[in-house]
Amino acid sequence: MTPAVKEKLTALLPGRVKFDASLAEMTTFGLGGPAETLAEPDSPEELAGLLGLVRAELLPSFILGGGSNVLFRDGGFPGVVIRLGRGFADLKTIAGEGDEVLIEAGAAAATAALVRLTRRQGLSGLEFMAGLPGWVGGALAMNAGTREAGIVDAVQRLEIMASDLEVRRLEKGEIKSRYRGLDLPEGAVILKAVFGLKRGRPELVEAKVLEVLAARRASQPRGVKSAGCVFKNPPGEAAGRLIDRAGLKGRRKGGAWVAEEHANFIVHRGQATAGQVIGLLEEVRTVVREKFAVELEPEIKIVGRDPQGAIG
Ligand code: EPU
Repeated sequence: MTPAVKEKLTALLPGRVKFDASLAEMTTFGLGGPAETLAEPDSPEELAGLLGLVRAELLPSFILGGGSNVLFRDGGFPGVVIRLGRGFADLKTIAGEGDEVLIEAGAAAATAALVRLTRRQGLSGLEFMAGLPGWVGGALAMNAGTREAGIVDAVQRLEIMASDLEVRRLEKGEIKSRYRGLDLPEGAVILKAVFGLKRGRPELVEAKVLEVLAARRASQPRGVKSAGCVFKNPPGEAAGRLIDRAGLKGRRKGGAWVAEEHANFIVHRGQATAGQVIGLLEEVRTVVREKFAVELEPEIKIVGRDPQGAIG
């Protein structure tokens, strides 16, 4: 990136552009090299200006949310990592009629804050999200959730910035989602979502949330760093079960290993590199392919370049 482009970026978002910015601390994996540029727009206008410049200068870009499903390679990101600022983190109840209550959540709001609000108000529909880290925008983009439910199921309306840099609304009928996926128009950035929730009995909502949290605690590793499940579940199967049956629990590469508690987690305690995690992921994939003829598809996004400079 030339000094002139850097100056333009700084002028566009004064105080909210950093160069050579650590990305590891912005992800739950806590790994990987720096972003050449990190930009944090705080309004749709600022985002539009930034996306316009990124496009005009042909800069590689990546939209980062809460960083709970992303692994940056050790060579970092050679371009602009865009993370929506606090101006996109509002969370409010906007309407409630009869049994239904609408909650509007900005893309940069933490899913934990969203679940906390619904729990406090005794609203039902997002209990399955309890204990999942990340931000609303990222959770929507990958339709985060469990085997049975995805967060997009609860969405009534989305607000996006389309590739022409206009803000657009998508109503429920226009939103196409699938297991761990959401089909948005090419280049769209999620700005906010309106969730349709049911006024439930607060004690039942609370009981369900506690049940979900207890189930996660019982089956998933804690006290280590990870990005949650590494692979999507193949149709009709569980990636964790296959990896477990392949005898891969505890398999290590450098400081990273396949979790003993849940085989679809790769974890570390701060001694691993992104390259080791990726190497282990590929090894797991190869073993499962050879043993069960199943191709596991990563759920996590692997982004950036390796230290030798190859971009992926
Ligand atoms: N299993 C094993 N061995 C293991 C792990 C799992 O045999 O090491 C078996 C379990 O016994 C169970 C099946 O595999 O029969 C499924 O396991 P689990 O109930 O833990 O659910 P999952 O499909 O592995 C999904 C989501 C999780 C989410 C849980 C909560 C995916 C890829 N994962 O896990 O999401 O927390 O449901 O119900 O859909 C994430 O997305 O990062 C994530 C962790």
